[in-house]
Amino acid sequence: MNSPSIEIVNPTGSRRVVVTKPLPGCHWLDVLTAADCRVEIIQGTGILSREAITATVGPRCDGVIGQLTESWDADMFAMLATAGVRVYSNYAVGYNNVDVEAATALAIPVGNTPGVLTEATAEHAVALTFAASRRIVEADRFMREGRFIGWLPTLFLGQLFHGKTVGIIGAGRIGAAYAKMMVEGHKMDLVYYDLRPNLELEAYIAAYGAFLTSQGLPAATCRRLGTVDDVLRDADVLSLHTLFDASTHHLIHAPRLALMKPDAILINTARGPLIDEAALVVHCQANLDFRAGLDVFEDEPAMKPGLADLPNVVMVPHIASATKWTREGMASLAACNVAAILQGLPVNQGGDIRPFLSGKVPALAPSIVNATELGL
Ligand code: DGY
Repeated sequence: MNSPSIEIVNPTGSRRVVVTKPLPGCHWLDVLTAADCRVEIIQGTGILSREAITATVGPRCDGVIGQLTESWDADMFAMLATAGVRVYSNYAVGYNNVDVEAATALAIPVGNTPGVLTEATAEHAVALTFAASRRIVEADRFMREGRFIGWLPTLFLGQLFHGKTVGIIGAGRIGAAYAKMMVEGHKMDLVYYDLRPNLELEAYIAAYGAFLTSQGLPAATCRRLGTVDDVLRDADVLSLHTLFDASTHHLIHAPRLALMKPDAILINTARGPLIDEAALVVHCQANLDFRAGLDVFEDEPAMKPGLADLPNVVMVPHIASATKWTREGMASLAACNVAAILQGLPVNQGGDIRPFLSGKVPALAPSIVNATELGL
């Protein structure tokens, strides 16, 4: 096995922190340096093997910042505990790649990076929605191939959303932001499924509906439906924003795809395995008016056979959160999580995360997902 090359920042720091990929920006390095950390950053773009990570962590390490592409399972946490690691932070808001229970059993706090991905991911879901519905990628290719010989009444007909119904599965931060963008921007009605009602979202759309009525326009409405199936049946565009775990694996499978309108649009910026991708290929092959916009894939980075050949699927490489501000913010939050725990500081209790993104940061860990279990 070739050892990965490492960049070392603040070599005289007394606390050793390993970071498994170069991260954007410099604020995160300032935070770790101010916390007396020697930061060892594994270079390269490929997905690291567990052996490479283990070799870099070595016999003694205090903290780790890892990636969503790595499996931080019970064996990896046992390895971290043996090395004396006192905190792990995912460089992501999602942490389905982390065995939080195993980390908790070993008293290792697990951090994540909420709050800075919300608008970026929601905006990207909107971008995919329109790329899919208005056939932007197909039309772009058509232009580049020199096939445009003149305006035609039937060229690249797509879907109009104005006044139609948008559905979301999962009405947390990102789902609600996407829903508001679609409802406000395109005067759509919203249907959603979530185990818990999002009362803030419902009140927001009710107020917006009242505003539309005051302008002599039809009110936009919001309905929380009893089942995922009900949402699938109603939605002209459906966007997934739910957590991925065993209970949501293949949430969208062949029978559910069959419930959707034949010309519906399906968007996934959450996690690939929420959709049975092989079933989606079959569905899109049989229903050319059905369209999908995918940011994430079941066997990421691989695609299921046939997916890349479908003209009615728009695909991008897991970039929904890829704005400079967001990715630098994620780095700051991950660094603050590690720095705070290593300094014995308390955990933020749901407060604003913006003060952690620049300059001198609050003396708190911004987001530790097992804080309650660990009594932090
Ligand atoms: C996350 O943070 O969970 C995202 O998937 C990264 O884009």
